[in-house]
Order: sequence, then C-alpha cells, then structure tokens
Amino acid sequence: MKFRKAEWPRRLRSQEWFGGTSRDHIYHRSWMKNQGLPADLFDGRPVIGICNTWSELTPCNAHLRDLAQRVKHGIYEAGGLPLEFPVFSTGESALRPTAMMYRNLAAMDVEEALRANPLDGVVLLVGCDKTTPALLMGAASVDIPAIAVSGGPMLNGWFRGERVGSGTALWQMSEAIKAGAMTREDFLDAEQAMSRSPGSCNTMGTASTMASMAEALGMALSGNAAIPAVDSRRRVMAHMSGRRIVDMVKDDLKPSDILTREAFENAIRANGAIGGSTNAVIHLLALAGRIGIDLTLDDWDRLGRDIPTIVDLMPSGRFLMEEFFYAGGLPVVIRALGEAGLLHKDALTVSGASVWDEVKDVRNWNEDVIRPVGQALTPHGGIAVLKGNLAPKGAVLKPSAASPHLMRHRGRAVVFEDIDDYKAKIADEALDIDENSIMVLKNCGPKGYPGMAEVGNMGLPPKVLRKGITDMIRISDARMSGTAYGTVILHTSPEAAIGGPLAIVRDGDMIEVDVPARRLHLDLPETEIEARLKAWHPNMPVPESGYARLFHTHVQGADTGADFDFLKGQRGKAVPRDSH
Ligand code: FES
Repeated sequence: MKFRKAEWPRRLRSQEWFGGTSRDHIYHRSWMKNQGLPADLFDGRPVIGICNTWSELTPCNAHLRDLAQRVKHGIYEAGGLPLEFPVFSTGESALRPTAMMYRNLAAMDVEEALRANPLDGVVLLVGCDKTTPALLMGAASVDIPAIAVSGGPMLNGWFRGERVGSGTALWQMSEAIKAGAMTREDFLDAEQAMSRSPGSCNTMGTASTMASMAEALGMALSGNAAIPAVDSRRRVMAHMSGRRIVDMVKDDLKPSDILTREAFENAIRANGAIGGSTNAVIHLLALAGRIGIDLTLDDWDRLGRDIPTIVDLMPSGRFLMEEFFYAGGLPVVIRALGEAGLLHKDALTVSGASVWDEVKDVRNWNEDVIRPVGQALTPHGGIAVLKGNLAPKGAVLKPSAASPHLMRHRGRAVVFEDIDDYKAKIADEALDIDENSIMVLKNCGPKGYPGMAEVGNMGLPPKVLRKGITDMIRISDARMSGTAYGTVILHTSPEAAIGGPLAIVRDGDMIEVDVPARRLHLDLPETEIEARLKAWHPNMPVPESGYARLFHTHVQGADTGADFDFLKGQRGKAVPRDSH
C-alpha cells in the first residue's frame, strides 16, 4: 500500500465548471439549478456521478434506481453532491447478437460521460454480466475515484422442492427435454420459479463472478458481491458506498491506486476459489489493459492452477448466492486465501484499508457452502489455459465445471462451421457422432459471431443424451455462460473467422486434449496443417457501416480481452475545452 492521501480542502475538477463567476460558470450552475439544487451545493464540495445501468430491458438491473436513491442519501450525508446519469445497459438476456458485442460500447459511453461532465468521483451501479466490466473499464480509463455497487443476486429459485439456479437450470432442463426426461409444460412452470425476485443470476455465473471480482480487486466495499438484491443490507451497502466515495474524492484515491498487479493476482485466485466464470478471464484482461497492467492468459493459468474451489455453488456445486451470503460471502473466501498464503494482503481497497484488514476477522457460518480448504469441491479450480497447434494463443477451460474422465482424451472431430450449421445438424439421427467424439464449433469468436456468443456449451446430440451421457468435449472460439458447465474448451485463439487453426479442422480429424499438460493438439502432419491454412480464405461478411463495422475493425482477440485496439490504456481526466 503506497497510497498517500491528498491534501483537503483543495480545488476539485468540478470547479472548472462550477467554481467561478464567468458567463460559462453561471451557465453551468444555472441550468443545474432547474433541478432545485441549492446554491451551496456548488461551493467546491465533491460532485459525484452515479453511473446507472438501470434499464427495464436489463431485468437484472431493473431495481437499480432504488439503489441509486440509497447512494444519494450517503453522498449527501457525507457532504457531496450526487448527480445520477444513465449509460448503455448491456442486458445479457435480451441483447442480440450478444451483450458482449456492446461491452466496449458501454465502456466508451462511461469513459466519455465521466470525462465530459463536471464529476470528481463516481459510483458505478452494476449488476448483469457485462455491466460490471464495462463500467470498471470506463472508469479505469478516466481514473477518477470510483466505487462499484452491485445490484445483488436474485433470491434462491425453488421448483418442486429443488433449487433452481438461474441459467444452470435452463441448460439442465433443456437437455432433459431433449432426452425425454421432462415435459415442456414442466419447463414452462419452472420459468417463474427461476426468477422470483429482482436481481442478477443467483448462480456463480458471470454476474456473481464479476461482482466478486470487483470486490476481490478492491473496487467495491467488502461484502458487496453476495448480498441479495432484495435484502435490506443491499440498500445499506449502497448507502455506505455513497458515503465512502465522498471521502475517496477528498483523499484522491483513484482506480490506478487500487488496480495494481497485486490486485489482479488476488482476483484471479479468488476466481479459482469461487469456481468463477470463464468470462472473468476476458473482462479482467481488458480491464488490466485499460489501467496499464501487463496481465496475460499465462497469468491466469499460473496463478489459478493450484487454487482449490471452496465455494459449493452452481454451476460447479449445489448452492446459490443467497446461501453464499448467509455463509459469509466473499470475505470468507478471501480470508481463506490469505490464511493459505495465496493473497497479497497489503492490496488497497476502496475503503482505504488493505484487503486483509477487511477480512481478517470474518467467520464462516456454513462450511457446507464455503468449504474448508481441506474439503474443497475440487483441489484444482482456477482456469486452465490450453495451448498447442489448435490454439497457438490459448484456449480456456474451467476444470471445476468439467468431467474428470475427459481431462485427457483423444477423439474424432465432428465439425460445425457456425452456430446455424450446429442447429441444423445436431438433432439429425444420421449425424456420425458418439460420446467419444469431440464437437468443434467455428466462427463464434469476437469477429466471427460477432461479439463472441455464449454458445460454447452447445447441447449434446439427442441420441447421445438418451444413453444417459451428460458431457462430451466441446471446442470453440465462443464463450460460455458463467451459469453453464461441462468439459467445454472456449476462447480458442486466434479465432476461426480470422484464419486461426480452428478454421481448418475437418470432420474425422483426431484431436488430443490433455488438461494436466495444458495441451490442445490437432493430430495432423505439419505439412497438412500448413497446406490447409494456405488454402483458407475468409468467408464471413464484413459489416459495411455503423457500430458493427467499428466493432469488426477494432476488436482484439479473446486472448487479450477483446477490447478495441484504440481503447487500451488510460486517457485521463483532463477537462475538455468549453464550447460556450
Ligand atoms: Fe443478467 Fe444473468 S442474465 S445476470
């Protein structure tokens, strides 16, 4: 912790807009006052933006306007001026072609809104998957004091006496229908049970993972990740975060003070311990790129390799976020990492205290949900990064969600050229496939889909499911929902649409997967691979205009976080020129 607090009082950034008697200053203040704001609110106190991803099109964030009010209470109480504003909301469940295609758009929106407006600090109201990385990325690029407040997960879903986990149950039940083990009427009945309260997915999916990442990075107050959306303590968290951001501005405690290499290493290890989503890999790589930390896929493999998964939550385990909260939540996990010597204890958090000081006295209230390290769900959690001639720049797999008997496997490729090809063929009884085959899906990467769809966990063929088989190896350049599971190799880089080796795999080729050796190998002679690569030519249409064109032109590979090339790094908070 090398941070030194700034002197207070001092002239803040917002005073460039409000702190004077020129025509421009009067203009900036006067129009603000049409909201009924008293004159003394412009006296030099911290002006705090509440960057809100509320949207009725993002159901997981539909309750965030209420939380914004709680944040405002805290800001006023601490002597700041809160100003709430909307940004593009990347709702996972409705956006097409994928919410991921819009993460960078939202991050740009946040960055420009923060820089262009009279703000000294910001509270980031996040929830649904991409909203968390998008807002963190935008704030990191501007580097004004920022604190994340998550909307919190939905309450446990229950259906006929069983827990129904967001997303996870969806995958399980749709497979059960294909296998003839569940009726569509029952599936429809389960629909409401799965989503019984406001909030984000209640599994350890991407939303819960990214809320945990924000907390493990030190960008949210301790305990933020797990409090259910409807629990009164979620409102308290919002209120306290509102109070805290005012002091962060006074201290000038910025994202660059918190998002150090040590913070990222803590987050990667925490991701292994919670059995977090593979999507965290992409988002943390992108965030690190914004703040100037040289984080790589190899860091993910090295740091996560021996981390035991101790949180028994779906999709890897049995419980849901509500139970994680009652057990003590992420602080208990971080404490366990610290006790195991796997934590940079001095890493700074938004509270001003170190990550260790925040967690050292917490207790585990339910060892079924957060297990002791000696009784881990899997001793080797983390994210495995596989490399080889099929993925020269890497591919990822989540061992805690995979089948142990498939960790070393050689199989015959059954190839789907894109997701439509998969949909057209998968139910065909004549498809030459069995449980030993390896399903290969192409053209679902950042440029290929576009936006890198969450289709990597493609469903098994019905004729295999009917045998009672529930897992097969699947390889793609796609992503997978954090709520999904299976022996699914994702993010294969370079992607097929730009001529990565995945593009040249054909039906019947033999593929070797060796997770312990971190190897992904296409078993063909080098000369044959070279000949096929030489003969390959792009066949994906290139968007002619609009955001799709911008995305296609500038998105980078999954191996570096799929950010836009021109958005890497910080661009700072310099106050733009006035136009009046
Ligand atoms: Fe929004 Fe899962 S779909 S959090």
